[in-house]
Amino acid sequence: MSIKNIMSPSILSADFWKLGEQITTLEKSGTQWLHIDVMDGLFVPSISYGMPLIKSIRKRTGLFFDVHLMINEPERYFEEFANAGADLINFHLEATEDVEGCIEKIRSLGKKVGIAIKPDTPVSEVMPYLKSVDMVLVMTVEPGFGGQKLIPKCIDKVKELRIVTDRIGLKDIDIQVDGGITVDNVSEAIDAGANIIVAGSAVFAGDIASNINSFEKRLGNRS
Ligand code: DX5
Ligand code: ZN
Repeated sequence: MSIKNIMSPSILSADFWKLGEQITTLEKSGTQWLHIDVMDGLFVPSISYGMPLIKSIRKRTGLFFDVHLMINEPERYFEEFANAGADLINFHLEATEDVEGCIEKIRSLGKKVGIAIKPDTPVSEVMPYLKSVDMVLVMTVEPGFGGQKLIPKCIDKVKELRIVTDRIGLKDIDIQVDGGITVDNVSEAIDAGANIIVAGSAVFAGDIASNINSFEKRLGNRS
């Protein structure tokens, strides 16, 4: 299998006073991706941050920016997020009436495309789009907040999705899990077929470098 297991730490759980310092620690710990959660207070109840933050960290780091848009009608902002420095734009299937248009727009901006589904959205709903995206984000909690507990039925959706993508020959498609992932349960997500692992509170609580090291061991990237 050619897919790699990759950590994508979510800065939603960072200490914003020390954001630069914490991102540098992640880089030194071998992290390659950064998961950036954008919330609009409508698609999800909470509000987080947007383009100004992305622009300012883009100037200082070469990490791959995995931007998770939890916003209604995300197509309104793809161009701005692309210009701000996103490498991959994840939008929610539930947030738009024009999924195909969203995929085309992100592609036309030269960025990778991710499509995200909430815990109650069945895998069957993303099937028509699998061949045109780089990644599917299977939410493992209700989107909106860090620090929640993983919903076990979502792991079954990951299994189902990996079976389907294998069956149709999509060997390189990434499956991301996001929400409630810890060092103790990450192996379950990987065994189910996920290969891009988002973790917020489990990375930023305590010693970041040692948390990353523990995750990387579970991902099979370190001994
Ligand atoms: C939740 C966000 C997540 C969040 C994960 O809506 O999409 O990326 O930061 O945080 P943890 O890992 O603490 O559940
Ligand atoms: Zn997220």
